[in-house]
Order: sequence, then C-alpha cells, then structure tokens
Amino acid sequence: MKFKGVIPVAGFGTRFLPITKAQPKEMLPVIDKPVIQYVVEEFIDAGIDDILMITGREKRVLEDHFDKSIGLEMLLKEKGKEDVLRKIEEISKINIFYTRQKDRKGLGDAILHAENFVDGNPFIAHVGDTILIAAQNPLKELMEIYNKHKKPIILFERVKKEDVEKYGIIECKKINEKLYKIEHLVEKPKKEEAKSDMAIIGVYLFDSKIFDCIKKTKPGAGNEIQLTDAINLLLEEEDVYACEFKGKRYDIGNPYLWLTANIEFALKRDYLRDDIIKFIKNLNL
Ligand code: G1P
Repeated sequence: MKFKGVIPVAGFGTRFLPITKAQPKEMLPVIDKPVIQYVVEEFIDAGIDDILMITGREKRVLEDHFDKSIGLEMLLKEKGKEDVLRKIEEISKINIFYTRQKDRKGLGDAILHAENFVDGNPFIAHVGDTILIAAQNPLKELMEIYNKHKKPIILFERVKKEDVEKYGIIECKKINEKLYKIEHLVEKPKKEEAKSDMAIIGVYLFDSKIFDCIKKTKPGAGNEIQLTDAINLLLEEEDVYACEFKGKRYDIGNPYLWLTANIEFALKRDYLRDDIIKFIKNLNL
C-alpha cells in the first residue's frame, strides 16, 4: 500500500477574470511561487511523491512549470546565480503525472480520472487552488487517521452562515475531539437549509471504493457529477469520517484571500518583511 496524491485543477477561476482567461488560477503567485507549487510541496512534505494532476485544455503551463527548463538553467549557471538555479532545479525533480478531463463535468468526474493511477491504493485528493498552513501537515494527519481506522476522511472547516452556499456541508456526529462520523452531505445548500456550518475544504482521503460510487452518481448541483453526492453513496456502504482543519486556509481563487495570503507570506520573508510593515504603517487609512 502506498498513498498517492491527486490534484484536480480543471476549474475555470471565474472570480479572477480576466487574469484567468489564458492563465490557470493555479498559477496565481503567492510572492514568488504559484499556488500549485505550495500544494505539491505539501504532498512531498507528507511523503507522497506519486502525484497525478487532472488538468484541462487551458492548463498546459502547469506541466511546463514542473518540467526541466534547460535554457534557463544554463543561463543561470553562466551568470553564477546558484540560489535561483537550485530553486528551479528542485521544481523539475518532482515526478508528476497528468491526465485531462476533456469535458468539465464536475469534481466527481475529475476524480474518476484518477482510477487507473491510484491502482487500488488509498489516495489524498486536494484541490489545486488552496494553501493550508497548520502546525502539523494536515495530509500527514489524514494518513495517520486512515492508518488507524481504515476509513475515508474529509477535512472540514467551520464557516460563516452566509458562506455555506459556496461549499459541500457536512452533517455528522462527534466521535472525539478530533473526529466526526458523517451522516449526510449536501452540496452548496441554501443558507436557510444548511444543517451545519461544517464546510468541505476540498481535501479528502479515499480508497478505491469511491470510484464505483462516482460511476453511480447522477448529475447534481450545476448539472455536474458532484463528489459530494458520490460520498453520500459511499456512506451507504461504510463509515466516512470528518476531521476539522485547525490552521489557516487560503482559497487563492478568491481575490481577497489571494491578496491577504500575499501580505501574510511576505511578512514571513526576511527580505520583504520590513518594507511591507513600513508600507502598511504609511497607508494612513
Ligand atoms: C468543491 C466541492 C465542495 C467543496 C469545495 C471546496 O466545490 O464540490 O463540496 O466545499 O470544492 O473548495 P467548488 O469550489 O469546486 O465549486
């Protein structure tokens, strides 16, 4: 058994138009790295180096980003820019597989494209536009829970009432401080109808049983094959757990969160910190 990583990156990024017209939202920079690289590094840090990206037509540049760039590497070597050279070389050492979702039929359909790659192993699916910062790598935590209980697990976060309409919402029973047993999920409920404030944040640990459930799932919200609906079918066969994400989540497809992520990450970089603080103090708001 070997945990695999699956990153669906097929969505449009409409909240960020026009920048996302010819540029995937997963390439939006947070300081000097695109969001997708933060996600890939989170997998590598958790010990998962077998990664599949489920891409789409406008996402070619993602493959280029993780490819070797011989001309650039030669140039940096000639100019003696060893630091940057090392950063560039590191990116292309990661071995990533790619497959395309040809029709945009929803997150469930995207995940189904991972069936052959996963090949019977458990896997973590992690949306490609979200950065998670926490004391412990949340992917490691999911794997620890899976190793103990051998059940699928979904990460969730509590959201404001007015925001439930943007997420898959979990109804569940508490097992202990950390874990909940899911009873039912609803994809993007109206705020008057939502039974909780526990929102799916796009990070899931599954085993291969999910694929048969996706195959049985009929189009749901937005006429798409919803992963949330497939998990409801999985619940008829086995327990599925939910685990609260305790940390900071940056949904980079949201312009406000993208901007705040850039400010917060800049404050962590020595070469930017003082200038940013000075800039903020001088804003005179
Ligand atoms: C998807 C899922 C939803 C989840 C969300 C988290 O929705 O369908 O259940 O809460 O990701 O980002 P999307 O944001 O693709 O509409």
